[in-house]
Amino acid sequence: MSQTRTIVIECLRFHPETDEAPYYQSYEVPFTEEMSVLEGLQYIKDHLDGTLTFRWSCRMAICGSCGCMVNDEPVLSCQTFLRDYHPARIRVEPLAHFPILRDLAIDQTDFLAKLESVHPYLIPSTGDDPGDQPRHQTPDQVQDYLGYAQCINCLLCYAACPQYGLNDAFTGPAALALLHRYNADSRDAGKDQRMEVINAEEGVWGCTLVGECSEVCPKHVDPARAINQNKIASTQDYFLRFLKPRGRR
Ligand code: SF4
Ligand code: FES
Repeated sequence: MSQTRTIVIECLRFHPETDEAPYYQSYEVPFTEEMSVLEGLQYIKDHLDGTLTFRWSCRMAICGSCGCMVNDEPVLSCQTFLRDYHPARIRVEPLAHFPILRDLAIDQTDFLAKLESVHPYLIPSTGDDPGDQPRHQTPDQVQDYLGYAQCINCLLCYAACPQYGLNDAFTGPAALALLHRYNADSRDAGKDQRMEVINAEEGVWGCTLVGECSEVCPKHVDPARAINQNKIASTQDYFLRFLKPRGRR
């Protein structure tokens, strides 16, 4: 049984219906060696202040819903431990670059629209309906996209991305990584549709290669790599347009 100590958790609070501006509220929380930041927030909710609002579900880095800023770093609160900050206090805030719905819960509307814009599903070629038959892939073909399929939509990469912070029209890391996940799949024939998203001003060229998205990603998706690969694809597409106008490929 590990010893109980206490740590001060300072939470950003904001209820838009009643508060004029966000403010910070501090809570002293007893914790044990194995307690996560999420469990600290749950302690506050259960024992100190039932009005504190935050999202969570799986508690095991799978659902992607518990993302927040801890001492200015985007993290999954279920995967971040209070022991690593003690004896200093910690500051917990909603993910940067998103509007606040309430306290630590952000409005994800913008991201969901971007996700939809990249056609995040397999688009078969015309006349290529396998019916009930399986579509076999080699291990190498699976490896081409498997890493990009690990995204849990936690949005840490958007909170870490200075370009998204400056211009929220930028499609952003996770949506572009998911776009690449389907383009890299041997069963997909939707590249032309997605190329419009890639080539758009707010597509891959909105990225300035900072790379923080890949640094903070808890699932090692490496969105920066996906974006770089699509900058190459976009450049090739630009030159191919001169040789073969669209519709004649
Ligand atoms: S790419 Fe990584 S950091 Fe970004 S949403 Fe997906 S899992 Fe989260
Ligand atoms: S609670 Fe699901 S990822 Fe943290």
